[in-house]
Amino acid sequence: MDSSDFYGFLESRSSVREYDDEPLNNDEVDYILNCAGTAPSAGNLEAWDVVVVTDEETRCALAEAAFSQEHVERAPVIFVVCSNYVRSMSRYGERGILYGLEDATIACTYMMLAAHAKKLQSCWTGAFDDDEVRNILSLPPHIRPVCLLAVGKGHPPAQHTDRMGIGEHVHREIW
Ligand SMILES: Cc1cc2nc3c(=O)[nH]c(=O)nc-3n(C[C@H](O)[C@H](O)[C@H](O)COP(=O)(O)O)c2cc1C
Repeated sequence: MDSSDFYGFLESRSSVREYDDEPLNNDEVDYILNCAGTAPSAGNLEAWDVVVVTDEETRCALAEAAFSQEHVERAPVIFVVCSNYVRSMSRYGERGILYGLEDATIACTYMMLAAHAKKLQSCWTGAFDDDEVRNILSLPPHIRPVCLLAVGKGHPPAQHTDRMGIGEHVHREIW
C-alpha cells in the first residue's frame, strides 16, 4: 500500500451503527486482536486489555450501560478495550495513568482500522457508565474500560462525516 492508498483507506472509514445478523467468524475476530497486538505502547508495557463479548445478554447489558445505545446490542461483537494501569504505573508512577489510557486508545484504534481492512463496520463507543461496565464484566479495580468497540457486518454510509479541516488543528512552530 503506498501513501495515497493509505490516506484513501483512512478516509473511506465511517462509523456504522446498523449491522446484519451475521456474526463475525473466528478468523475475523483473531485478525482484529492480532492487529491490536502490534500497537506501540509506553515502554512497550502494553498497558491495555480487551474483553471480547459476543453473548447476547451481555451485549444487552452493555447497551444499557452505554445509555441505551442500541448499536451496542445489535453488533455481534463488542471489544471492550480497557486500560491496565498497574502495568504502566509500576514503571511510570502517576504518568502511567496517562500512558495506560494512551496504550488502550492506540490498541483500540488499531482494532477499528483492522475491522475496516476486513471490510467490517464498527463504531467506537465512549459514552457509558464505567461502574456498570465494570460490574457486568467483573473487571478488577485497576482496569478501566475505555471503549466499547462495536463491530459487525453492514453497509458503509453513502456520505462521510465532515471534518473541521486540518488547518483548524495545526499550529506551526508555536501555538
Ligand atoms: C472517543 C470517542 C467516543 C465516541 N463515542 C461514541 C458513542 O458513545 N456513541 C456513538 O454512536 N459514537 C461514538 N463515537 C463515534 C463518533 O461519533 C464518530 O467517530 C464521529 O462522529 C466521526 O464520524 P466517523 O467515525 O463516521 O468518521 C465516538 C468516537 C470517539 C473517537
